Amino acid sequence: MTTFPLTRKRRLRSSSSIRGLVAEHALTANDLIWPVFVLEGKNRKEAIKSMPGVFRLSQDLLIEKLGKLYDLGLNAVALFPVVSAEKKTEFAEEAYNDDGLVQRTIRAIKIVLPELLVISDIALDPYTIHGQDGIIDEEGYVLNDETIDVLTKQAHSHALAGVDIVAPSDMMDGRIIAIRMTLEDQDFPNTSILAYSAKYASCFYGPFRDAVGSAGNLGKSSKESYQMNPANSKEAIDEIAMDINEGADMIMVKPGMPYLDIIAKASEKFNTPIFAYQVSGEYAMLQSAIDNGYLHEKKAIMESLLCFKRAGCDAILSYYTDRVLDYLNEK
Ligand code: PBG
Repeated sequence: MTTFPLTRKRRLRSSSSIRGLVAEHALTANDLIWPVFVLEGKNRKEAIKSMPGVFRLSQDLLIEKLGKLYDLGLNAVALFPVVSAEKKTEFAEEAYNDDGLVQRTIRAIKIVLPELLVISDIALDPYTIHGQDGIIDEEGYVLNDETIDVLTKQAHSHALAGVDIVAPSDMMDGRIIAIRMTLEDQDFPNTSILAYSAKYASCFYGPFRDAVGSAGNLGKSSKESYQMNPANSKEAIDEIAMDINEGADMIMVKPGMPYLDIIAKASEKFNTPIFAYQVSGEYAMLQSAIDNGYLHEKKAIMESLLCFKRAGCDAILSYYTDRVLDYLNEK
C-alpha cells in the first residue's frame, strides 16, 4: 500500500454517500431471526424482568405480531415454549406430544403465514423437572445416547407439525446424524437442521432461563458436561466439522458478541451458512445500558448486529429483531 500523502484513507470516509459505496457489510431484514417465548392460553402478554422490553406471548398475540413483522420483511421465527410445571417430567415426554404447545403453535403459524419459516428448538430443558437438556442418571450426569432417542422423537413430532427447521441446541454427540436419519426415514427430506454446533456453557443464558422458567429447575447444577468451555476455540472447529459431516444444513455459534472470534474462524474454514445467537444476557446488557441512558438505543442495537455480519454471519437470532425491522423500514 502506498503511504501518505498518496493515500489518504479519510477520503473514503468524507461523506455518507462515499461511505455507503465502499461499505463491506450491511444488515438487512434477510439477516434476522426473531426468537420468541410462547405461553399457553389466549390474550396473554407477560413481561420478563431480566429482559425489559421482551414479552412472553400467547399464540394468538404472537401470530398477530408475526403478521405485522412478516409485512416488514421477517423471514423466520424461533419458538421457545414456556411449559407449565405439571407437564415437566423426569423423561421429558411432553417434548414429543404431538398436541404440545410448540407443535400447536407451529401448526397455527403455518396456517396463517405459510411462507414464514418456523424454527423449533430441539432440547429437553423446558420439559425436564431438573432443567437439564437431556435425560440424567442417578448422579445427575446427562446421558448422551438415551437423550438422543428422545430428541429424535421431538424432532419428528415438530416435523409432523410442519416445522421448516429443527434446531438442536442440546450439544449431545451424534445427535445431528440421528435426527437427520429420523427425518429421512419418516419422509421429511426437506426439513432442515440448524445445528447449535458451538454452544458454550455461558452465564449469558441466565435471563432466558428466567423467561422460560427453567432456572429454578436447574438450581445450582450446570450444563458444563455438555456445553463447551468458554476457554476453547479449536474445539469449536471440531464440533462444527462434525455437525456438517452429520448433515447439518446450517451451523450456529452461541452466545454471539463475546464469541465473534469463533464466528470469524468458522466462516473462513467452512462454506456452510453460519448463524449466531445474540443471547438473552447480551440483550439484558445492552438494554440496561439503553434504559439508563448510557447508550443510544438504535445506534447500539444496529452496531451490535452489523458486527455479526462483519465477523462472517449469514443470519442472527436477536431479541431486537422486531425493533430492527421497524428501523430498517424507517425512511
Ligand atoms: C435450551 C436453550 C437455551 C438457550 C436457547 N436454547 C438455554 C440453555 O442452554 O440453558 C439460550 C438462549 C438465550 O440465552 O437467549 N437448550
